[in-house]
Amino acid sequence: MSAPKHQAPRGTRDLLPHETARWQWAEAKAREVLERYTYREIRTPMFEDFELFARTSGESSDVVQKEMYRFKDLKGRDLALRPEATAGVCRAYLEHNLAAQGRVHRLWYAGPMFRYGRPQKGRYRQFWQIGAEVIGTAAPGADVEMIALFVDVFEAWGFENLSVAVNSVGTPATRRAYGDALRNWLQPVVHWLSDDSRQRLEANPMRILDSKDPIDRGILAIGEGVGPGIWGAMDDEKQKRLEADLSKLHRKEMPKMVDVLDPESRAHWDQVLGGLEQLGIEHAIDHGLVRGLDYYTRTAFEVHDRSLGAQSALGGGGRYDGLIEALGGPATPGVGFSIGLDRTLLALEDRSPALTPLTFLYVAATEGTRGFVAGFVRALRTVYAVDHDLEGRSLNAQMKAADKAGARLVLILGDDEWKKGEIVIKDLADGTQETVDADDLVDAIDRKLEPPDAAEALEDDE
Ligand code: HAM
Repeated sequence: MSAPKHQAPRGTRDLLPHETARWQWAEAKAREVLERYTYREIRTPMFEDFELFARTSGESSDVVQKEMYRFKDLKGRDLALRPEATAGVCRAYLEHNLAAQGRVHRLWYAGPMFRYGRPQKGRYRQFWQIGAEVIGTAAPGADVEMIALFVDVFEAWGFENLSVAVNSVGTPATRRAYGDALRNWLQPVVHWLSDDSRQRLEANPMRILDSKDPIDRGILAIGEGVGPGIWGAMDDEKQKRLEADLSKLHRKEMPKMVDVLDPESRAHWDQVLGGLEQLGIEHAIDHGLVRGLDYYTRTAFEVHDRSLGAQSALGGGGRYDGLIEALGGPATPGVGFSIGLDRTLLALEDRSPALTPLTFLYVAATEGTRGFVAGFVRALRTVYAVDHDLEGRSLNAQMKAADKAGARLVLILGDDEWKKGEIVIKDLADGTQETVDADDLVDAIDRKLEPPDAAEALEDDE
């Protein structure tokens, strides 16, 4: 077959019916946990003013610089498909003055997000997130609850032994102090850094910690005490020069954000760690953890699954105490996370439970009863999942179709039986057949679907 003329746009995918069952299962599990934590759903538009994202994600972030689906509508408005939902949630919080309805709001959302990245395993241009936000409190307990909720959602999906990476990214002021310290530390090797990192050294030094460039990574690995890393092909002469410069780095440890925190942020950090200990939540401090969005303050966290390769972050989040103020609102703290559902389902592929297929009935008719089928099926569908033939095919063809589709029972509307007010039920599991009075149909179906001994066994258990 030649390639069809139209294909889904690069970086997007279709989720076909055999996949959506797993998605629905994952979404339902997450929703259950979120609701038990008393979070309430919020739905915001899939596009917003471009400016909203530029203000919050950060002008210098990759998301804004390189990955935005920015467009003008027919009236020339400058809009963008949302790359994430936190900015939209905070915009809605301000626009509807939710602050007047209560001080602390626990919210969750799910839906597609859009980022124009290079597509690869686990990275798509349209992807799904499920996320939660607590707006209105700066208490470290909110960060701890958020991380506990984050972990509990993953556990509800069947992930085990998850370890959350945590860090503090301080405040804008401590980030400036940290930037100076990092610039100093990197001085001997500045000329080896990638162009991107050299630019970031001025604009946003902390972001260098997130660089994927192999030489940058090797340099940082030294600072983290695990390097030098592997830089790929390089001629001997160049390698010697690099090693000579790197040897100057060994002497001093790379500065850590948590060492330059202001006293309040330090106390906050200690309390978050204490809270995680108290709840027994597995976590590891990762001094190199920086988030890809600029709005974070203090706590930042992520979960990774290494089996996914380069795109290993399953989810992440943190505190964003300056975001709402940056949108022109009163200073209002917030903390939240988002989990990438595409990656999560990829990681779960071989671990997700076998989903029980839908149990459904099939109604088959003869020439003489065909005219009654649509009404009969419609009534039955108020209680059961019911399939039937739309094309007036033979009874034989209908029986085959029922079998192929995986129906559990076939209700046969035979000419003679229909006249007597009777229906034939064929059990496709064991091939048995029974004729029942139409008035007893529901009971008869229920008996078949849940045999009496199973029902008794359940009662015995209680
Ligand atoms: P984020 O770390 O940018 O955070 O995204 C969260 C998750 O979305 C990632 O860990 C990843 O699983 C998934 N994700 C991101 N980009 C892609 C992509 N191109 N393809 C597939 N999956 C992707 C946020 O979005 C913040 N709003 C989280 C947050 C909420 N912070 C505070 N509140």
